Amino acid sequence: MHHFYYINRELYCENVPLARIAAQVGTPFYLYSHATLSRHFRTFTAAFEGFSHLVCFAVKANGNLAILRLFAQLGGGADIVSGGELYRALKAGVEPKKVVYSGVGKKPAEIRFALKTGILMFNIESSQELAAISRIAGRLKTKAPIALRINPNIDPKTHPYISTGLKKNKFGINIDQALQDYRRAVTLPHLEVVGVACHIGSQITELAPFLEAVARLKDLIRQLEREGIHIRYLDLGGGLGITYDQERPPHPQEYGAALRKALEGLKITLILEPGRVLAGNAGILVTRVLYTKDTEDKHFIIVDAGMNDLARPSLYGSYHGIWPVVKKDCPTITASLVGPICESGDFLAKNRKMPAFQPQDLVAVMSSGAYGFSMSSNYNARPRVAEILVKDNDFYVIRKRETYRHLIRGESIPDFLRNSP
Ligand code: LLP
Repeated sequence: MHHFYYINRELYCENVPLARIAAQVGTPFYLYSHATLSRHFRTFTAAFEGFSHLVCFAVKANGNLAILRLFAQLGGGADIVSGGELYRALKAGVEPKKVVYSGVGKKPAEIRFALKTGILMFNIESSQELAAISRIAGRLKTKAPIALRINPNIDPKTHPYISTGLKKNKFGINIDQALQDYRRAVTLPHLEVVGVACHIGSQITELAPFLEAVARLKDLIRQLEREGIHIRYLDLGGGLGITYDQERPPHPQEYGAALRKALEGLKITLILEPGRVLAGNAGILVTRVLYTKDTEDKHFIIVDAGMNDLARPSLYGSYHGIWPVVKKDCPTITASLVGPICESGDFLAKNRKMPAFQPQDLVAVMSSGAYGFSMSSNYNARPRVAEILVKDNDFYVIRKRETYRHLIRGESIPDFLRNSP
């Protein structure tokens, strides 16, 4: 459910027509609905009502300060994977005690930053990281609260690039080795074992893989309890999928009910790290048609947004709905919506049925609120686009469009190259 709809053939976000925003801020831009973001967060957290839990939004899905603040105000925390994401979360006002830190490559400076901040827990992904965090915590004369991120060897049945809980993936500690690492962790004086964590993948559209993971982690928690290692937090990561096209993922309510049932009798606080399910369908990318071009067997619609702005179609072949911002009486054609980047992989939609868009038309690329702006780049020296938040009748620029100055920020020409050629 989202708040992008047509009124008299014109696309609105809440009560604001998209064309009005485009006229004021130019294109392309990302557009988020405050009502949708809030509704998604509330629905998600309500699904776990009655069970002690904490929803830590995955900052990697959308790190904009305004969005992080919105979730923080609704009681959410943050799932981070870098010092930069911790910085963002803190700047947005996320409480340190609601921050969990995953990622296979945490650097010493990042670990120190997180320790000084006093985050809720580190989700440790290898035996070497365990030793490193203990060492650094020792130097800071503190104790690091930790969970081991378990790789439960489960197939989440999603795109191979975003499946993370299989033995062959680089993520987590093999479940067969976990007990041994926990035994070691409790002997290290600068670690405090508080949790068990896992994240098996993203855009998962069935409950079964989540439940399988829970079953395995429950066994592990019981084993640990038998050995006197008490677990306070079970972090099940993110991964719940959304509808981009025809997918029918479980509703958060169903997901919550199934997890609560599976966890019955376990005295833990559940941590969840949703990203896509909160932000994905709450945001779109708005772009303008520059040209159309017909070759012998293909129609191309060339727009001003490219793979540097939204990488998902090129990277994963992913589907995003293509909606006209103003519905016109024009034929439907099979066309490819492509960007200005100098790569053949630069498309937002390939060989798809869509209106026969004309130059100047505005196009909405749907379901782009997660892993959209956050994965964008300056490739082809393209300034990154603006981000806009709509609330009711108003819109707010929550990130200004970059300028050419941003493109060269921090660059310098060494003296030996200063002489004119
Ligand atoms: N927690 C951890 C440890 C993660 O690695 C991820 C996502 C999440 C939570 C959030 O997962 P979500 O609820 O959003 O599925 N760029 C890809 C997605 C990569 C996901 C990486 N990890 C895409 O655009 O589909």
